[in-house]
This record gives sequence, C-alpha cells and structure tokens, in this order.
Amino acid sequence: MEFVEVTKGQFTRLLHPYPTFLVTCAGRSGEANVITIAWLIPVSVRPPLLTMAVRRERYSYGLIVESGEFVVHVVPFDRAREVLFCGRRSGRDVDKIAALEMESVPGRVVKAPVLPKVGVAFLECRLQQEVEAGDHVLFIAEVVAAYARPGFIKDGVRDLEEVLPLLHVGGNRFTTTVTEIVEPSV
Ligand SMILES: Cc1cc2nc3c(=O)[nH]c(=O)nc-3n(C[C@H](O)[C@H](O)[C@H](O)COP(=O)(O)O)c2cc1C
Repeated sequence: MEFVEVTKGQFTRLLHPYPTFLVTCAGRSGEANVITIAWLIPVSVRPPLLTMAVRRERYSYGLIVESGEFVVHVVPFDRAREVLFCGRRSGRDVDKIAALEMESVPGRVVKAPVLPKVGVAFLECRLQQEVEAGDHVLFIAEVVAAYARPGFIKDGVRDLEEVLPLLHVGGNRFTTTVTEIVEPSV
C-alpha cells in the first residue's frame, strides 16, 4: 500500500473532524468574550476535569488566566456561522456577543457569561492548572456545573436526532453526523 506523505506541520488535519465549541470568559472587570475552540477533551471523571488548548495570543487567554473561569457551550450544527465568526474575529477588535446579538446571563457557579439561546449544553469550568505545550497552553479545568436542554440526553447518551452536533472539517468548513448509529459488541 502506498501512503501519501503529510508534512508534520499538517498532522492536525489528519484528526478532523473535531467537535467544536463556543467558550465564554470574562476578565476581572467584567469584559466578556467568546472564542471558538476545537481542541478540547475530557481528561478525568473523578474529579471532573477537561483540558483545552489555547494560544497565548488569543484575547481569551488573558481573560481566562485573570478570572480563572470559563464556560464551554456545546453548539448545534445550525450555529456554524456564529462559530466561524467567533473563530475568525478577536474580542480585542469586536464585541462578538453584541455583534451576534447573543443574549447572555451570568453562570450558575462562575461569573463568566452563559449564552442560553446559542448553547444546548453547558460546562462551567474553574481553572486548575496551566501546562505549556508548544505554541498552545493547555488549560486543565474542573467542571463545577454541567447542564443541558431537555432532550439533549436520552437513555443516558446524547440524542443526535434531537440536536445535530457541529464538527469542524478544516478551513471554514463544518459538517454533522448522520443519524445511523452502530453499537458493536466486543
Ligand atoms: C473551527 C475553529 C476552531 C478553533 N479552535 C481553536 C482552539 O482549539 N484553540 C485556539 O487557541 N484557537 C482556536 N481557534 C481560533 C480562535 O477561535 C480565534 O483565533 C479567535 O478569533 C480568538 O478569539 P479571541 O482573540 O477573541 O480570544 C479556532 C478557530 C476555528 C474557526
């Protein structure tokens, strides 16, 4: 079998599609922002921890370090436009929450804002640790509150027919899943 060589700088392209999230944060004096994040995974159940990779250059980086808090929003496929906007524009130049006319309310536990009309599930997080990782920083954070719209979870798993997931294909492209599900026995 012949394989096609991929430059090491493009290795991340081989891992797509990534579930993609909107993450809100606010600085100490209340300035709120929202950033698109695809590099985010759970890393522990007890205690509940997740990690996300954020470039130091992002406006959100400083806000999260300053406040130690952020809120991960699971967003549906039909929010691709907002997700691309928040992933291409910086809060340094534009108030993204206002520009997209997104309603925002305070978090249940954290002070970072929650976008109840845009998100379908929410993970309020408190920063635990910052780990240097090349050109990104890994934020390891504890999930201090988690909630979802009714119907998001059915029989203990996500109901993909209720809310289609948003997956980043690469560049400006997004996709979603087909509703065919397999559950192999092993
Ligand atoms: C689909 C997509 C996924 C992204 N994922 C990440 C990510 O995981 N980490 C990161 O630092 N930036 C990521 N970005 C880039 C930031 O969202 C982008 O630089 C944003 O404008 C930063 O906003 P801020 O300066 O307001 O914080 C992503 C962008 C897109 C479009």
